[in-house]
Amino acid sequence: MSDNRFLSSDTKKNDIEHDAKLRPRDFSEYIGQKRVVENIDLMVKSAVKRKAAMDHVLLSGPPGLGKTSLAMIIAKSIGSELHVISGPAIEKKGDLAAVLTNIAPQDVLFIDEIHRMHISVEEILYSAMEDFRLDILIGQGASARTMQIDLVPFSLIGATTRSGLLSNPLRDRFMAHLHFDYYKPEELSLILNNNAKKLGVILSEDAKIEISTRARGTPRIANRILRRVRDFALVQDHEKIEISDVHKALDLLDIDKLGLDSMDRKILKVIHEYYSNGPVGIDALSATLGEDKQTIEEVYEPFLLKEGLLLRTPRGRTLSEKAITHISI
Ligand SMILES: Nc1ncnc2c1ncn2[C@@H]1O[C@H](COP(=O)(O)OP(=O)(O)OP(=O)(O)O)[C@@H](O)[C@H]1O
Ligand SMILES: [Mg+2]
Repeated sequence: MSDNRFLSSDTKKNDIEHDAKLRPRDFSEYIGQKRVVENIDLMVKSAVKRKAAMDHVLLSGPPGLGKTSLAMIIAKSIGSELHVISGPAIEKKGDLAAVLTNIAPQDVLFIDEIHRMHISVEEILYSAMEDFRLDILIGQGASARTMQIDLVPFSLIGATTRSGLLSNPLRDRFMAHLHFDYYKPEELSLILNNNAKKLGVILSEDAKIEISTRARGTPRIANRILRRVRDFALVQDHEKIEISDVHKALDLLDIDKLGLDSMDRKILKVIHEYYSNGPVGIDALSATLGEDKQTIEEVYEPFLLKEGLLLRTPRGRTLSEKAITHISI
């Protein structure tokens, strides 16, 4: 069960509902991220054998790569309930304490965007994770005392797009740190195979390849393109989705040959036009773009860096030759 009170925003809620149908239901449908899955598989099997909670694990990586989906599969494999909360949405210690005291033994607590949790709330987690105990300070000054509440053994899965922003005490309490990488086109193709079936559509081979190479290495984006392509084929009574349908959908979604969307291109263009290809600091860039600094760093930059379009130097962000050529076309 997820506790909707602590979800960060409506968009997130919509996303979760939208993704539901296409989410992998078990490990067999969970494609790629081999190292992550190997580690998790071992931890899950060990937990089941020990009849104990799985060790706490930190999942990090860019948005849409399958962190939430994996947490759901973990809980299902252990046969326990998944409790989903969003770090920044919990404002008071008491809110987190309420969640922690309401879970059953071996349940999985998933905290999304855990790097954005309020520090005072985060501190509650230290003893909860280490000793399955809540230390709560009651009163103030000389009369202050600590009350301890025992918790049942549970497993915490933290998800973050920026593991570097986690505080050391929190990071140290995770037994495993697993990092997600962008997916290879072949892996996205396998995901598209499964999801085309779930949506009841037939994809031609080259349509599938086209989607998988333009999806920014991200299953969520591959799914988004697939849905739009399905709409096209449906409206035009095409029985099979051809590459021309994909191209029309990509145009509508404003996704270019390199898989960049309009915001990605805007970032490159601003650096080109306003800052003579860089270097430019993140604060200046964020002000010029009118986009939140954190969003630029967490959502857009990782892919631009991975594709070698953006370079990070001590003096700021710079465009590569590849980027300059790309935006001048
Ligand atoms: N390994 C995978 N195999 C198949 N489908 C996947 C996989 N990973 C992700 N997906 C698909 O991508 C969608 C988005 O994944 P998910 O919500 O798990 O990402 P996330 O890492 O939690 O993103 P965010 O950081 O934004 O919360 C899922 O609904 C699912 O359909
Ligand atoms: Mg998620």
